[in-house]
Amino acid sequence: MIERPSGIKIEKFSPTLGAIITGVDLSQKISDAQFNDINQAFLDYQVLFFKDQKEIPPELHIEFGKKFGELHSHPAAPTMEGYPEIFEIHAHKDSKIANGEFWHSDVSCDKEPPLGTMLQLHILPETGGDTMFSNMYAAYDELSNKYKEILDGLIAIHESEHIYKGRYSDRGVSEDKIETPTAKHPLIRTHPKTGKKAIYVNRTFTTGIDGMSKEESSSILNFLFNHCEHVNYQIRYRWSLNDLAFWDNRCAMHRAIWDYWPNERKGRRVTIKGDIPK
Ligand code: SIN
Repeated sequence: MIERPSGIKIEKFSPTLGAIITGVDLSQKISDAQFNDINQAFLDYQVLFFKDQKEIPPELHIEFGKKFGELHSHPAAPTMEGYPEIFEIHAHKDSKIANGEFWHSDVSCDKEPPLGTMLQLHILPETGGDTMFSNMYAAYDELSNKYKEILDGLIAIHESEHIYKGRYSDRGVSEDKIETPTAKHPLIRTHPKTGKKAIYVNRTFTTGIDGMSKEESSSILNFLFNHCEHVNYQIRYRWSLNDLAFWDNRCAMHRAIWDYWPNERKGRRVTIKGDIPK
């Protein structure tokens, strides 16, 4: 465990990725020194889990998100009443879907996909409802140099109509209000802050490779989806009430496990806009 002069304590979660953060109360305004330490830990560990938290008032959750950049508006998801910046995650006995059930990087179908996402959970099932994260730097590093050469320069197609159409209609989102963006991004991206390379495809949104036939793209993408989802690059996080997870979508994928039906799981998500992947 490292303790920073700001009071922030950082404990590595696993050799793969992630860190537990304590010594900060996110239901209060944070200092510049605390922000700097959190920002550095975010770049170092890719996913931060803030423990021992109280419920963060929506205004402060939004303010915390804005410290990392402009906020991202989700093209289709239901928002919290009075707070369009907040995406409400909610699954219960009548839900037809839970959010994020397949491996993905948030909204990778956007031209400027999210830099990071902050989720705090306020209602948890007694057991279950874990979230998995996977390290896309590590997945890239494990490829052979020959395969890296093949992938370098390829452009992946990310689509969302098959995901967002009708997805949130039972949560009051009208179909004429949603957007279904598509984008083309480098299949291998370089993180704008760390300079490290990461695989940037996921089985939720990535549907093809530019200039390749369906069969050609499928053979590369299926290999990469399976490779990126290998247990060696993963962690599985078991939530406690009011934990806040903050993940870097540029170098980590995640998957939420819906194994708790008919129980309820609910929280608020603030998402920070990123830049065009390069
Ligand atoms: C998401 O993909 O934002 C959902 C993550 C979760 O509910 O754990």
